[in-house]
Amino acid sequence: MSMSNCVIELKGLNRSFINGAGENHVLKQIDFSVNSGDMVAILGQSGSGKSTLLSIMGLLDKADSGQYLLCGQDVSTLSTYQLSQLRNGHIGWVFQNFNLIADMTVTENLTVPLRFNQSVNRVDYEAKIDEVLSKIGLDDKKSFFPAELSGGQQQRVAIARALICQPDIILCDEPTGNLDSANSDNVMELLSGLNQEGRTVLIITHDPAVAAYCHKAYKICDGEIQAILQQGFKHAV
Ligand SMILES: Nc1ncnc2c1ncn2[C@@H]1O[C@H](COP(=O)(O)OP(=O)(O)OP(=O)(O)O)[C@@H](O)[C@H]1O
Ligand SMILES: [Mg+2]
Repeated sequence: MSMSNCVIELKGLNRSFINGAGENHVLKQIDFSVNSGDMVAILGQSGSGKSTLLSIMGLLDKADSGQYLLCGQDVSTLSTYQLSQLRNGHIGWVFQNFNLIADMTVTENLTVPLRFNQSVNRVDYEAKIDEVLSKIGLDDKKSFFPAELSGGQQQRVAIARALICQPDIILCDEPTGNLDSANSDNVMELLSGLNQEGRTVLIITHDPAVAAYCHKAYKICDGEIQAILQQGFKHAV
């Protein structure tokens, strides 16, 4: 697998949850694909299934039925170990609340994914960490704890963590949801830059300003996903 051809393809995907009220059919026969190198926004009301869809694409959850081909490979055939290897090597996650480990420094937080990556040698950790920190402009914060950083800085560290294993795909669930507009723009410039390097970027957002950074936008509604054609997008869907 390489960055140039790793695509996401969902075919007839279903996901339901059973709760006190019965069955909640959140994703209904979803057909959806994302090309390599795309930058895609996913919108939709609260509870519409955006995070559920992203979790399936990010190999954190499984569909009940249908097919998910990641880089041409049917993920249902993979073992738990193979899935975790695929996640670690090909997918980076960025969350609304940053999810940095509070009692670890920036350097220690960035070391965590490297420890799970067998293709990175321990002696190369420091160089990898320096490389991602200079990319996000926080070289001087290596020994800081998350609580000693601003929200925007924490999110940039979370992006560095998502990047450190050189993923093809970066999945972001409301990455600017806790940021003011200046920090939000800063994070979006960073994600756009990563996309221009060839990485595929998917972003769940409620914010039209965030969606405007993307080439394509989709909306989840009543369990289905639809393309949104809207002025202001850099490219038509
Ligand atoms: N693990 C779970 N168990 C039961 N129900 C769940 C589970 N995960 C999600 N759901 C239900 O699936 C629906 C979609 O949830 P999801 O988190 O995907 O929504 P969302 O579009 O991300 O919403 P938000 O914008 O509020 O984050 C909701 O009705 C939710 O209650
Ligand atoms: Mg959500």
